[in-house]
Amino acid sequence: MKGFIVTGTDTGIGKTVFAAGLTAALRGTYWKPVQSGLEEETDTEVVARLCAGTGAQVLPEAYRLKTPCSPHEAARIDGITMDCDRLKLPAAEDPLIVEGAGGVLVPYTDDLLAADLFSCWALPAIIVARTALGTISHTLLTVEALKARGVLIAGVVFTGEEEPVAQRAIAHFSGVAQLGRLPQLEPLDAAGLSAAFATNIRLDLMA
Ligand SMILES: Nc1ncnc2c1ncn2[C@@H]1O[C@H](COP(=O)(O)OP(=O)(O)O)[C@@H](O)[C@H]1O
Ligand SMILES: [Mg+2]
Repeated sequence: MKGFIVTGTDTGIGKTVFAAGLTAALRGTYWKPVQSGLEEETDTEVVARLCAGTGAQVLPEAYRLKTPCSPHEAARIDGITMDCDRLKLPAAEDPLIVEGAGGVLVPYTDDLLAADLFSCWALPAIIVARTALGTISHTLLTVEALKARGVLIAGVVFTGEEEPVAQRAIAHFSGVAQLGRLPQLEPLDAAGLSAAFATNIRLDLMA
């Protein structure tokens, strides 16, 4: 299976928006294995909306959990024991774009962290990092946690305002490919995202 894991330094930083842009650009298949929180538009629904008309595909989640918190806790609240077999990569048309929940050390079960799953999936990861204060340490920690589990890192993508000093420090200390920065889009729609992705994201630089 070819594809990418889209992970990041935190939740609410633009992983889903970036994943939608990537899935559209590659005419790929998007999969969010575990959705925690069903009150608002789910990540899968956002990606389907932002990929409309691009030929990209969207798979259903393996687990849809009610509470917006870490998957292990959301599953406990719903009285569900997640079966790791259902978290294996699905048979789908590649490239498969898999979005993780939150950051790399989020627990999925009582003995499985996100990064452990990534290592089983054996796909390279793209780290989405916001440019806001604190990003240098968060991003370098994310790189270390992935490397410690043997997860290949295809690159780092920034979201937010340009912060050249932070971006340079991350490039310098991590040695990870810098794929660009997705600016804030207003409005955020399929056409605008495709255009911004094509202009700002350098998939050709991926490691
Ligand atoms: N490039 C962008 N332009 C405009 N809004 C964005 C952009 N990236 C993210 N957002 C908004 O920020 C919020 C969090 O983004 P999201 O992609 O859902 O983050 P994550 O998947 O990391 O939780 C959403 O409301 C989303 O619409
Ligand atoms: Mg998301």
